Amino acid sequence: MAAYEYETHDYDVVVVGAGGAGLRATLGMAEQGLRTACVTKVFPTRSHTVAAQGGIAASLGNMGPDSWQWHMFDTIKGSDWLGDMDTMEYVAREAPKAVYELEHYGVPFSRTEEGKIYQRPFGGHTTEYGDGVPVQRVCAAADRTGHAMLHTLYGQSLKNNAEFYIEYFALDLIMSEDGQCQGVLAWKLDDGTMHVFNAKMTVLATGGYGRAYFNCTSAHTCTGDGGGMVARAGLPLQDMEFVQFHPTGVFGPGMLITEGARGEGGYLSNSEGERFMERYAPTFKDLASRDVVSRCMTIEIREGRGVGPNKDHIHLNLSHLPAKMLAERLPGISETARIFSGVDVTKEPIPVLPTVHYNMGGIPTNYWGEVLNPTADNPDAVVPGLMAAGEAACASLHGANRLGANSLIDLVVLGRAASIRAGEVVDRKAPVSQPSQTAIEASLARFDAARFAKGAVPTAELRLEMQRTMQNNAAVFRTDKVLAEGVALMDGVAAKMDDLKVTDHSMIWNSDLMETLELANLMPNALATITGAEARKESRGAHASEDHPERDDKTWRKHTIARVKGKSVTLSYRPVHTEPLTSLKDGGIDPKKIQPKKRVY
Ligand code: FUM
Repeated sequence: MAAYEYETHDYDVVVVGAGGAGLRATLGMAEQGLRTACVTKVFPTRSHTVAAQGGIAASLGNMGPDSWQWHMFDTIKGSDWLGDMDTMEYVAREAPKAVYELEHYGVPFSRTEEGKIYQRPFGGHTTEYGDGVPVQRVCAAADRTGHAMLHTLYGQSLKNNAEFYIEYFALDLIMSEDGQCQGVLAWKLDDGTMHVFNAKMTVLATGGYGRAYFNCTSAHTCTGDGGGMVARAGLPLQDMEFVQFHPTGVFGPGMLITEGARGEGGYLSNSEGERFMERYAPTFKDLASRDVVSRCMTIEIREGRGVGPNKDHIHLNLSHLPAKMLAERLPGISETARIFSGVDVTKEPIPVLPTVHYNMGGIPTNYWGEVLNPTADNPDAVVPGLMAAGEAACASLHGANRLGANSLIDLVVLGRAASIRAGEVVDRKAPVSQPSQTAIEASLARFDAARFAKGAVPTAELRLEMQRTMQNNAAVFRTDKVLAEGVALMDGVAAKMDDLKVTDHSMIWNSDLMETLELANLMPNALATITGAEARKESRGAHASEDHPERDDKTWRKHTIARVKGKSVTLSYRPVHTEPLTSLKDGGIDPKKIQPKKRVY
């Protein structure tokens, strides 16, 4: 093994990742005077949150009546009753405060005539516990909401003296012998040096793992790095079988066309020009929740009513809407449609297809962001010194299916919650403990083995094999046979990790090595996804089984816990939190409203 030296940096908190959750956690930590480092593999404002378009859900009630209880109900129903009630209540209640905070930090929200924050309708967001009309709940900065948030949060973090380590790739958690997280080891990409970030609290905010699939709206950087680090540390992943397909990715390249397009009045049509969602979801039509719309589009295509020469996609129509409104409220997707499908949205429909967009599963946490390592005695056991937030985490706000615009609110409410909790548990006066030498050496050895891997399979080839397998075998509709075949295929794919070939052995800007390490992170995420899906014999949210078409609350209203070691996955289950935080008499949601029932839109 080559010799590696490393520099050690001591902090109260190290946050890994600088998307919405990472920046909101960093800002909250720094505001409280905790010495905070944010370690990120890309420049903060290039994190994938920049691609979030349509908006952030909060019951401000600027455009009509709304309440946090309605928001909570919609989130529960959207989750297909798999979300944790405490998390769902916390987020729905705190959402308005978190959005006003963003406004005061400087996010340039679009405005109503009276100067209030503009809010648009989005799928699955309703009034009167689903019995009323769609609500305008989604606060927007045109269709560039994530972009606006990232710039504001980065500026505020700098103002509060958070320290940024940019283009540092976190390799592994440093875990002590007694199971405490002590920070991370990271590789500085532009000069090849190694760095130990030694901290009292580590927060993983590394985003999702969309790139485990062939066709996704996620950036190339979405490689499940936090999930990979957690799996290697012997900690579990939760509910990984629930992968969200966004109904409107651009057909072919897969870029996101915001649900805000349908919120503003756009609609889907098939080869017969039919607005088919009216048939499937008579009340909410194109604004039914995402899993429902994606399945209906897939059925239309399967039954021969897709559009295009191969009848393999669907049309999203906006040309009936006023051009001025499209320019003001949907400028980004108008440009995306022009560049990536050559379409002028004021004249022609956009060709779209359900596209992998979001991972409901991730690193299990409570709603304070503390990472959980469930045991037989304690399903909510906390890992000392370790937190996770954002898409990397599973709190579980979204359960089996996330509502649109509930991701940005997840990032800020739960990123902020993590900082509140860290402020309570981190002892500022205590010295930082000595990081485990054994853990650092093991991580360096893993790095070295990847750097000098002399097998026969190029990383890009194996990554493609994984992506095609996941795309074919863990798609919108699933069957027992296809999933079982997928598990066997992924077993073969994962086995080839031992036969990788890395040709560039340098330490500086070595994209061959970096992509290999990213593939090592994607792999446990993909394995947990397909194995959890094969085991779950029901349909719930984004997991639609043709062999088990009904939801089975008696057997399956439980979280999947997946422990991945090499290519082997061990599953167990953990109860859903079914109790809200606040009783009805103290102003909480009416328990009768949130009993599981059939999910219709
Ligand atoms: O459609 C969108 O704008 C995506 C929003 C989201 O995933 O929350």
